Amino acid sequence: MAVLVTGGAGYIGSHTVAALLERGEQIIVADNLQQGHREAVLGGKLYVGDLRDGEFLDTVFQENSIDAVIHFAANSLVGESMKDPGKYYHNNVYGTLSLLEAMIRHQVGKIVFSSTAATYGEPENVPIDEHDRTLPTNAYGETKLAMEKMMKWFDVAHGLKYISLRYFNAAGAHASGRIGEDHSPETHLIPLVLQAALGQRPHISVFGDDYPTEDGTCIRDYIHVSDLADAHVLAVDRLREGGDSAVYNLGNGTGFSVKQVIDIARWVTDHEIPAVMEARRAGDPAVLVASSERARQELGWNPSRAKLEDIIGSAWAWHRNNPGGYNKNG
Ligand code: UFG
Repeated sequence: MAVLVTGGAGYIGSHTVAALLERGEQIIVADNLQQGHREAVLGGKLYVGDLRDGEFLDTVFQENSIDAVIHFAANSLVGESMKDPGKYYHNNVYGTLSLLEAMIRHQVGKIVFSSTAATYGEPENVPIDEHDRTLPTNAYGETKLAMEKMMKWFDVAHGLKYISLRYFNAAGAHASGRIGEDHSPETHLIPLVLQAALGQRPHISVFGDDYPTEDGTCIRDYIHVSDLADAHVLAVDRLREGGDSAVYNLGNGTGFSVKQVIDIARWVTDHEIPAVMEARRAGDPAVLVASSERARQELGWNPSRAKLEDIIGSAWAWHRNNPGGYNKNG
């Protein structure tokens, strides 16, 4: 039986495809290539199409024996979601509805879902656990929460089993050097810092140094993308073993400030990386750090690439060798 990976040409999706291939799974990727890169799909069969197209999904399910889905395909920029929430409801929420309906039509009852710490909003407790309040501060997080709730009601009505994985800050690149992070536009801290190290931008902007943290900059929990990928493989195993629906946080449990990230990147790259203090960015909580105890206990997840210098080091190897990302040579 094959695993269908929607959004498998994207950043976290492509690393998960790589992890599934490494253990000999049959893979089907469905991606509209709006954000994803054909070159990032290291194996399996790629279908180019949109999840909102039910006929496209019928073809994918009819032509393959699929027993589980891993669902990444979505828009995921917090800032953009505040300017164009309709795009997020249409692609993320309606896309997921169309996918779940197709799964029901084709009797596929297992799904692993790419969710986010943005479902929590401003945290009540640090570290955050899965029982904490979910009150998103942006439309992106709200759509991911709506998608989780949709799966819950499909479980009640149709017995669809889902595992929702709420990631904190994904970073790093595959050990092979063949795939890495390439967003357009890029908005994430670590790739932007590395672009500054490469001289592709004059400096890194630090969005706010007046937060209630030790050095005044925001604290985040950075997790290696291949550790995230491993968690998806474990989640598929759990569903195949008859596991029940569940939600898990995925992070390292250690927070680093924006200034600390820049300092570590200076050390890793041996470049100066000028930093310029700027105003806060709308919608940024001061501190987001995960408790991933539940994933460790129930999935047997054990992130093995936890050191931030190694995470940044793997991203640096990718950026240095692919200065223009997948499509260009810099
Ligand atoms: N930052 C800067 N300068 C930049 C870019 C980012 O100072 O040029 C800061 C941000 O303000 C934030 C931190 O660096 O404090 C991390 O920002 P990212 O944009 O890298 O990541 P976010 O924490 O905003 O968001 C990420 C994902 C979201 C997800 C969220 C959950 O992009 O999809 O983590 O924690 F919802």
